[in-house]
Amino acid sequence: MKVAFFDAKEYDRPSFEKYSRGSGISIKYFETKLNADTAELAAGFDAVCAFVNDVIDAAVIDKLTELGIGTVALRCAGFNNVDMKHAYGRVHVLRVPAYSPYAVAEHAMALLLTSIRRIHKAYIRSRDFNFSLVGLTGFDLHGKTVGVIGTGKIGRVFIDICRGFGMRVLAYDKYPSDEVKNKGTEYVSLDTLLRESDIISLHCPLTEENRHMIDAEALAMCKKGVVLINTSRGALVDAEALLAAIKARQVGAACLDVYEEESDLFFEDNSGHILEDDTLARLISMPNIIVTSHQAFLTEDALENIAETTINNLLLLSESGKCPNEVCFKHGEARDCKDGKCF
Ligand code: NAI
Repeated sequence: MKVAFFDAKEYDRPSFEKYSRGSGISIKYFETKLNADTAELAAGFDAVCAFVNDVIDAAVIDKLTELGIGTVALRCAGFNNVDMKHAYGRVHVLRVPAYSPYAVAEHAMALLLTSIRRIHKAYIRSRDFNFSLVGLTGFDLHGKTVGVIGTGKIGRVFIDICRGFGMRVLAYDKYPSDEVKNKGTEYVSLDTLLRESDIISLHCPLTEENRHMIDAEALAMCKKGVVLINTSRGALVDAEALLAAIKARQVGAACLDVYEEESDLFFEDNSGHILEDDTLARLISMPNIIVTSHQAFLTEDALENIAETTINNLLLLSESGKCPNEVCFKHGEARDCKDGKCF
């Protein structure tokens, strides 16, 4: 099986080479992202492998079917970049549902600690032999309330980490889990979570209904000085509204691993270029905002899991016509499907 691998980075190759060796799968790596302009590159391949900022819209899906390609193997968990309605019945969409919830949850906590203990400031100061502590005052996490939106695999690990710090945890999820409840986490309405939390961390997928769930109205409901962490998807947060709330001192700090308009910027070295995106430039210029470029997944453990699961997904589908990690569109929303049944 020949696979066209889009948005390839040097850190992707070792694990994919390891797991594809001897499997009958050969991979050609393209540095370009998959979109309507580049889909033609997949001519002659059996499947494409795509990541979070590849755009698999109706035009790309039509091009792939025209080229006789029936499989899109996502090497990520989220599939908001795929037009699932259009994909249904045309291409198989496979994903890696969990590669390391620890990688993402630990990154969320790393961002939070960096932000509230001003580590990013202290690091730069001490490199310049500036050992002053003025302006570095933080606050204890112990005893603070953290609101976790989305209590799936990553949200649960993040909750455990927060408990280790002695925090009170509030949770909001569209589908609350008994397992999470039984472990002592209190589910509340989104409004209550926004009103009572000192820190809010997003761990839900981006769907049509929750785009900009953190908008001006939501931010106004929050406690003054709230710390917002987003390691999920950029468009969950209205970036303009966040900027306004930072300027108004309503939001005390923000830790962003994702950004709504990240697809043309993140994963690339833009250091020699003038940043056209004024909102991102202004957010980055704020002393109380930390931006990482969709890096939360990037651990050796996660890269191994991503490659192993993606290769297995492709092999399973080609051998049996079924794959437990297929996502399909039925009943008006995208779901996992197994043996022809949707969940
Ligand atoms: P998951 O599917 O295990 O959990 C998601 C949870 O969100 C579920 O409990 C679901 O019921 C809940 N949910 C769905 N819609 C919701 C809504 N409208 N409001 C509140 N809750 C809702 O997913 P997992 O593995 O925990 O990942 C969460 C998200 O993290 C992914 O969708 C992806 O966007 C993001 N992610 C980010 C990475 C990064 O590198 N920054 C890497 C991997 C995932």
